[in-house]
Amino acid sequence: MNFARIFCMKISLQQRLKSKDGVLVVPLFENQLKDLSQNLPAKIREFIGKVHKNKAFKGAKNEMLLTYFGDKGLPPRLLLLGLGKSPALSVKSILNCAGMLGKKLKSGKIAELNILLPQELYVGLEHFLIALIQSQYDTGKLKKINKSKHPHDLQKVNFIIDKISRVSEKELEAKIEKAQYIGSSLEFVKDLVNRPSNYVHGESMAQNAYKIAKENYYKIGVFGNKELKKMGFGGLLAVNQGAHNEAKCIVLQYHGAPKKNEPPIALIGKGIIFDTGGYNMKMNKKMDEMHQDMAGGATVLGIFRILKDLEIKKNVIGIIPIAENLVSDKAYRPSDIITMLSGHTVEITNTDAEGRIVLADAITYALEFKPQALITIATLTGAAGIAVGNRYAGLLGNDPILRNKIKNAGKETDDRGWSLPLPKDYIEKMKSKVADLRNYDVGSSHYAGASKGAAFLSYFVGKTPWCHIDIGGTAFTEDPKPYQTHGATGHGFLMLLKFLEQT
Ligand code: BES
Ligand code: MN
Ligand code: ZN
Repeated sequence: MNFARIFCMKISLQQRLKSKDGVLVVPLFENQLKDLSQNLPAKIREFIGKVHKNKAFKGAKNEMLLTYFGDKGLPPRLLLLGLGKSPALSVKSILNCAGMLGKKLKSGKIAELNILLPQELYVGLEHFLIALIQSQYDTGKLKKINKSKHPHDLQKVNFIIDKISRVSEKELEAKIEKAQYIGSSLEFVKDLVNRPSNYVHGESMAQNAYKIAKENYYKIGVFGNKELKKMGFGGLLAVNQGAHNEAKCIVLQYHGAPKKNEPPIALIGKGIIFDTGGYNMKMNKKMDEMHQDMAGGATVLGIFRILKDLEIKKNVIGIIPIAENLVSDKAYRPSDIITMLSGHTVEITNTDAEGRIVLADAITYALEFKPQALITIATLTGAAGIAVGNRYAGLLGNDPILRNKIKNAGKETDDRGWSLPLPKDYIEKMKSKVADLRNYDVGSSHYAGASKGAAFLSYFVGKTPWCHIDIGGTAFTEDPKPYQTHGATGHGFLMLLKFLEQT
């Protein structure tokens, strides 16, 4: 692996407790409390016995007891962390447990963590760390005056491990390293999504893509207005027509397959820098959150950032169509009929259904690479959130096998998706009387909005296996999971990465 990247958090593996700083964390299962490991210092065993006896700590899942311990030779604070009854911890409970621990330390401004890692957590160490890193995400990065000194309050994590274990030290080290790459890329994605559009725009997305390409020797192309016009990206240009900044289409290529000419997997991420809705303007619909509308594109960039580091054995194409959906005397209007890159004409029945238009051109372009699979990831509809809430992305497409692989990858990383229907009836609804297609089903528009967004895309995909991930309800949150923070969640990132590893 490439060790060049410097990570914010220093993480080490140790055979015994060396540090006398920060906090000592002792994770405990309920049934372990009576039979404590002899590896624990006698004073701590005594203490646990006491708190167990007077029921101050039971070891219930996610229970925490933080106290000043102050014994000589030990870190000044002790934190008992409950793991619950079952020794077989699910990914979700590992993530939640590490997330809660991370947040507790963050609020206590503790910089160093020494954790007596129980063997039951060895296999899931990667998840544990990904959650711990995520829990430290700083949502106040743009503060200038009331800024905390360090971007991460938690700077050092030492895992104290047993010598004898089914999982070797080398394996644990690999898990730590991988979690750091993943954690750092998730932070990168969240930064892009959290920052408003005067910070993150087409130019900065392109700069990030160039940097990623240069560092990893990927092939890259970034098309601007002139090229897009020449090539015929009529959809992408129509959506961006009202904007001062140019439209862009970023194309990244990674070759990791042993067979150089293996058909690639195409990842297409929606890159709407800001979505006012256009003339069908968003009214009372939290327009201020619409800088999140490039989350799909940010996810694709985040994945490319570590494809090479993680040695993913696939060929992957990343395509990010970038536009701003604004109002001005140049903006596209409801009723305009535009001609897409594919040649289809589209009646604009709603300027707020812009994501599907820019994605459609990107899909048409992606087909030139003859991909084995097409994956679109997009904050495409609010309706996806209405259908499946803020813990599941909507999964749609034309290929149940591909969709199931992605769904399972999501399950394994607690980055979940749920299948939504895409029947012919809804696909028919996207036909127009005056053009080949319309971008919005005027008649029964309130129903199955996520499916109809995907239905529009299906006309451009053809027979290529395709899965669409609608993160409209999950990319940005006011209701974070225990290991997440408010705002960007990076939803879809772990799901896609796991899929690329497994497929
Ligand atoms: N970017 C929005 C979808 C969205 C809404 C994402 C809220 C995240 C949070 C998308 O472009 C949009 O406006 N969709 C419309 C579709 C409608 C006009 C068919 C929607 O969901 O209301
Ligand atoms: Mn919109
Ligand atoms: Zn949008």
